[in-house]
Amino acid sequence: MPATFPGQPFFHYAHEQLHVEDCALNTLAEQFGTPLFVYSKAAMLSALAAYQRGFAGRKAQICYAMKANSTLAVLQVFARAGCGFDIVSGGELARVIAAGGDVTKVIFSGVGKTRAEMRLALETGIGCFNVESESEIDVLNEVATAMGLRAPISIRVNPNVDPKTHPYISTGLKGNKFGIAHERTLAVYQHAAALPGLKVVGIDCHIGSQITEVNPYLDAMDRMLDLVETIESHGIAIEHIDFGGGLGIDYQGDTPPQADALWAQLLAKLDARGFGQRKLMIEPGRSLVGNAGVCVTEVLYLKPGEQKNFCIVDAAMNDLPRPAMYQAFHAIVPLDTSAPSAPTALYDVVGPVCESGDWIGRDRSLQVAPGDKVAVMSAGAYCMSMASNYNARGRAAEVLVEGTKASLVRAREAVSDLFASESLVG
Ligand code: LLP
Repeated sequence: MPATFPGQPFFHYAHEQLHVEDCALNTLAEQFGTPLFVYSKAAMLSALAAYQRGFAGRKAQICYAMKANSTLAVLQVFARAGCGFDIVSGGELARVIAAGGDVTKVIFSGVGKTRAEMRLALETGIGCFNVESESEIDVLNEVATAMGLRAPISIRVNPNVDPKTHPYISTGLKGNKFGIAHERTLAVYQHAAALPGLKVVGIDCHIGSQITEVNPYLDAMDRMLDLVETIESHGIAIEHIDFGGGLGIDYQGDTPPQADALWAQLLAKLDARGFGQRKLMIEPGRSLVGNAGVCVTEVLYLKPGEQKNFCIVDAAMNDLPRPAMYQAFHAIVPLDTSAPSAPTALYDVVGPVCESGDWIGRDRSLQVAPGDKVAVMSAGAYCMSMASNYNARGRAAEVLVEGTKASLVRAREAVSDLFASESLVG
């Protein structure tokens, strides 16, 4: 077992025990039970620092895409570090407020904002709506006009660039539901600029997620700048360019560029085209939290089979939905390597949920026995935020670590919580 993890430098083995910062994960598992998500605050701040270095001396606002992990304590870390937030629902806005975030630094993305969500966002005074369709423009105009306000907007453009990632998380291609077609952009800006309830402030794009190459970003940037030139030549000022999120992380030897290196290239392009001083916004999610977290789970049973051996753990697809949804890879490693309790074997690591799709890792070489605990790595993004109660399973607990200090930031969901809002028919 390697002593360190290239993608997760805040997780390492010391005295044959897996640690996050200065806390042994086995101790946390004993204290808080399993399945348990554990996050490193230093890992989040270090990921953020790479963006901050990249933007040194520039006008830039980092809006954490909180869909990646919207736990209040995680939001608090980013709010205190000066981040804004990219939200996609009224529920996410409420979370930002509960975490002490600055609503003026909130941008509201998503193709299906309701009137109620628009009103809530206007009342609280968010920074910008990233509008995704022509009909949304008209509805937002109506809602804002009725409130006697002007909604700040940016139009999300679909630049038709292939981000070379999993089709479910690719968003900037013509066939995707997101954004306004490149060809329609000018006409839509002209329409929006003439409406009394809207104020055009920016332009926006987001081409996909888990992007590991620089070129799709450079292509999208060129297309966006072409559009900005065209729109401004028609007298509509674009104060900021929002470049979305999408930067990938190392799950399995993936080699995405570092945030500062990516932005060095993008800023060079902005400078070369005369946009170096324009205000920039970005919406990173996964790259800020994905490698800051793990999910600790206990081996319940080993089930040898003719074709497959199964290692059944107490976390499942309701806690870790990414393998089932995207065939995603997460490394799975033991917490304690001091005295392996069993011979090495090849296992499919699966959960207790009654679906064959409930797998967490396939064909993994592990040396484990029932009662041992393993960590599912790179589980900080799109795990807890996508967790469900399928099979009437309460959601896992979450702990935030800072050096030697471990704080329980979400209690394990009790079964009684699951049906607290239900009633029997009288
Ligand atoms: N901005 C917008 C408009 C987005 O739709 C997204 C992600 C982001 C920013 C943040 O992207 P990131 O930096 O995290 O790549 N559940 C999938 C990922 C879905 C991404 C959805 N949109 C997964 O687990 O891989």
